[in-house]
Amino acid sequence: MESNKKMLVTSALPYANGPIHIGHLVEYIQTDIWVRFNKLRGNSVIYLCADDAHGTPIMLKAKELSISPEELINNVQIEHKKDFESFYINFDHYSSTNSISNQKLCENIFMTLNNNGHIDQREISQFYDDKEKIFLPDRYIKGTCPKCKSEDQYGDSCEACGATYSPTELINPVSILSESKPITKKTNHYFFKLKNFKEYLIKWTKDNSLQPAIKNKLDEWLNDDLNDWDITRDEPYFGFKIPNEKDKYFYVWMDAPIGYIAAFEEYSKKDDSFSGIWQDENIGKIYHFIGKDIAYFHALFWPSILKGSERRTPNGIFCHGFLTVNGKKMSKSRGTFIEAKDYLKYLDPEFLRYYFASKLNDGIEDIDLNFDDFLQKINSDLVGKLVNLASRCATFIEKKSKFFLSKDLENEKLFKDFLKNVEDVEKFYYKRKYSNAIGKIMLLTDKANQYINEKKPWSLKNDDEIQKIATQGLNYFRTLIILLSPVMPDLLRQTEKIFKEKNLKWSDCYNPKLGTKINKYVSMKKRIEREDIDKLQNMLLEINNIETKLEGKKMNNEIDYENFSSIDLRIGEIVKAEEVDGADKLLKVNVDLGDLGTKEIFAGVKKFYKAEDLLGLKTIVVCNLKPKKMKFGTSSGMILAADSDGDIIIINANEKIKNGSKVK
Ligand code: 2FM
Ligand code: ZN
Repeated sequence: MESNKKMLVTSALPYANGPIHIGHLVEYIQTDIWVRFNKLRGNSVIYLCADDAHGTPIMLKAKELSISPEELINNVQIEHKKDFESFYINFDHYSSTNSISNQKLCENIFMTLNNNGHIDQREISQFYDDKEKIFLPDRYIKGTCPKCKSEDQYGDSCEACGATYSPTELINPVSILSESKPITKKTNHYFFKLKNFKEYLIKWTKDNSLQPAIKNKLDEWLNDDLNDWDITRDEPYFGFKIPNEKDKYFYVWMDAPIGYIAAFEEYSKKDDSFSGIWQDENIGKIYHFIGKDIAYFHALFWPSILKGSERRTPNGIFCHGFLTVNGKKMSKSRGTFIEAKDYLKYLDPEFLRYYFASKLNDGIEDIDLNFDDFLQKINSDLVGKLVNLASRCATFIEKKSKFFLSKDLENEKLFKDFLKNVEDVEKFYYKRKYSNAIGKIMLLTDKANQYINEKKPWSLKNDDEIQKIATQGLNYFRTLIILLSPVMPDLLRQTEKIFKEKNLKWSDCYNPKLGTKINKYVSMKKRIEREDIDKLQNMLLEINNIETKLEGKKMNNEIDYENFSSIDLRIGEIVKAEEVDGADKLLKVNVDLGDLGTKEIFAGVKKFYKAEDLLGLKTIVVCNLKPKKMKFGTSSGMILAADSDGDIIIINANEKIKNGSKVK
């Protein structure tokens, strides 16, 4: 295991267009635990992150909110930082990719790549929304899958059959921005020649300890042709302009990882002890924590960009799986799409850290937050066994020895045996097998409780003996909390207060606290009540109800205002209504429209109305509809009728409101 090493660690940069939710938190908690552990073990670690602030979705979100993208990303960054802090995610620096330092680096890296022959330029044809005047990213086009013919699939891949394709292959493509059919338009783009790095990547994947599943994926990709990567986006776009170009920008995925270096440069203004780390491998290690979905960017493009711009490459890319809640994808309508700030209204942030740690390992499998399991692990294991150990023992020290710990342990050999397990816990943390670390800590907690149960201090008469047993119990607790401290840093702070200590180090778990006075025990963690989880879910369901009511269901056949206002609507009175021989669905009505005279209209309402019911009814008529020849005659307009849960209802316009009361 490394010690006295310099390590630069990052988590993926969250997009600046939405709040942090518990799915994001899996990664930040995973990384933060690793960073805290390595710091506690004496490594010199910097943990960097930033908001990923560019791209079409951010530009469109700002437009929707009628604010500038800069304002949006500033607001979001404040929220993100607050959420991270509340969950004890302790970045050494948190930046934004929309920074001057990042812009300079992007330009510089692009020029170097270009000078080194890794950039190509050519004209391509792309889908363009002629109404919205914007080139369409793949995700903004929907249509029918060319392979399995499923409808409503995105422009890059089909969720039904998993096929990937180019948007131009979609059948009946539609822009999701305007619902119009996109046109193809030519544009000049820059490409990064990924294939120049094939040999290097093959070697890089061998030399670095990648997770087996990721390594397999890389081998698969590397066995295939490596396509050039389009790094240009056209105006309108929120991002950095490409040098010497007018309307062209770097694709967000080009400038985002460069944000890792920019964040480092900003950090270096406070502490320059890592300087040169992006050039020289001997200075320290670089590790990126990411979700498995963005492995392609981090394990193919990113090392190649670094290599091609004469920099060193990372030592590790650590991928994790996705989060499900109660076995399913997080969902607003199930009340399981939990934003960080909502979770905090009802539950303790360290409980989520503990729970995620108890599930996380070094693999890329998805992890599940099951509320019953969550309740059980926190209440029985963490609070019931571990935290309770302190309260059980502290009471004896308070009552039997006036808050003083004994000068010796009751059984030093037993305590030393206990400490033999510390190295296992260390190894588990270092290898990111947190679930094993937690498993071991809980096993040791059981041992500590078993010790107290066997010694039965409550049944003893001799206060000195009781003091020694309780002192041993409290020291077990203190050691366990130090071992758990990468996961629960605040619990460590609370424990320090009890023992009147500060800044406990990892090595302190080997040095029991003896002979000193402790503070009065105050409850450190309370059990979760089932009610708290129910309240959180009910609140989320309520928010979702309000949101869906406000937004309504999005229609996929919207018309614009101009089209609607060209319809000439008038109120007319039905003066004649009769059945039509041979027609099952139609009634023939004559409507008196005043100045316009009387129109004969065929209305498909026979199933819902008798002819005589309609006589004398005032209703709304579309007067400027082109007359339509039908089998039974010509229909010269349309009576407005609407669907009400399968019933067709003709609008009754007999009543109107005048001066606040109904008049006929
Ligand atoms: O997938 C995402 O959420 C991206 N915002 C991650 C970027 S990580 C890095 F490359 F910047
Ligand atoms: Zn398909």
